[in-house]
Amino acid sequence: MDIKTPYIWKNWEFLEWDNTMEHNLTHTLHYGWWVFEGIRFYDTPNGPKVFRLDTHIDRLLYSAKVMWMDLIYSRDELIKATLDTVAKNAEKSGYIRPIIFYWYGKMWLYPKGAAIDTAISVWKWGRYISDDAITVKVSKTRRIHPATTDMAAKICGNYANSILVSLEVHGGWYQEGLLLDTEGFIAEWPGENIFFVTKDNQVLTPELGTILPGITRATIIELLKNELGIDVIETKIMPGEIKNFKEAFFTGTAAEVTAIWTISLENWEKISFSSGEEDSLTNKIKKIYLDVVSWKNEKYSSWLS
Ligand SMILES: Cc1ncc(COP(=O)(O)O)c(C=O)c1O
Repeated sequence: MDIKTPYIWKNWEFLEWDNTMEHNLTHTLHYGWWVFEGIRFYDTPNGPKVFRLDTHIDRLLYSAKVMWMDLIYSRDELIKATLDTVAKNAEKSGYIRPIIFYWYGKMWLYPKGAAIDTAISVWKWGRYISDDAITVKVSKTRRIHPATTDMAAKICGNYANSILVSLEVHGGWYQEGLLLDTEGFIAEWPGENIFFVTKDNQVLTPELGTILPGITRATIIELLKNELGIDVIETKIMPGEIKNFKEAFFTGTAAEVTAIWTISLENWEKISFSSGEEDSLTNKIKKIYLDVVSWKNEKYSSWLS
């Protein structure tokens, strides 16, 4: 699929998509010391609208602070630049990728003083995962330990861990890999959070600590409470408990709500779920989510800008 759009916003100007190359000695290219966000905008009855933009920009600024980046612009200016980039590219829906990175001028591991660049790309991205329900596997690679990085920041270098998992599991039977943390508890997917539904309709999700606090995760927790009266239990979950669950799904800006058919454990035991069925709780919350992001539910219109 051609994801290309006409313009990329960079440091307060619009450049043509093919005209944004970086110098070979860009600090970030060598050491992964940059931060990013993944945001979606949707086709709504009121035009293209960005979902939870403020929350994404707040997380981006938090990530930049963790990386000691001194920014010369404000939160509001960044929000406006994002909306301008969406408008300039004239797509009805798609994905938005702001990045902030150390550019050129320093090559040692202390990057302070190197120039900082900010860029915002928009691309055409329909479904991240083409199937309604997917087959996944617990990966051999464990989630990076929270003592080694900041789990709440979207730091590009952290994604080496995610990419190792994707390379391990893709290409065969499996569409995604589930990461355990270094103590063996369920953590998350390379780019999504996970939820389980018990046989008596309780909903569980791994507690914060070894996972990215997903904005979709927080949205789903709020929607389950407000719309279905379900209080999500945030707790530690061992892979051995998975066989007691009847549904499993994952959440993320790119993947939205995706049902899981089966999870294969490290010992190759395969657990199946009913999450992909029409009358599942997974399907119910997925529909609620898709209505909210596309302004079919007025109650949450303040999340759209
Ligand atoms: C590692 C990881 N976990 C979870 C998520 C889901 O986060 P969000 O719902 O904010 O997109 C993402 C995506 O940003 C991610 O990269």
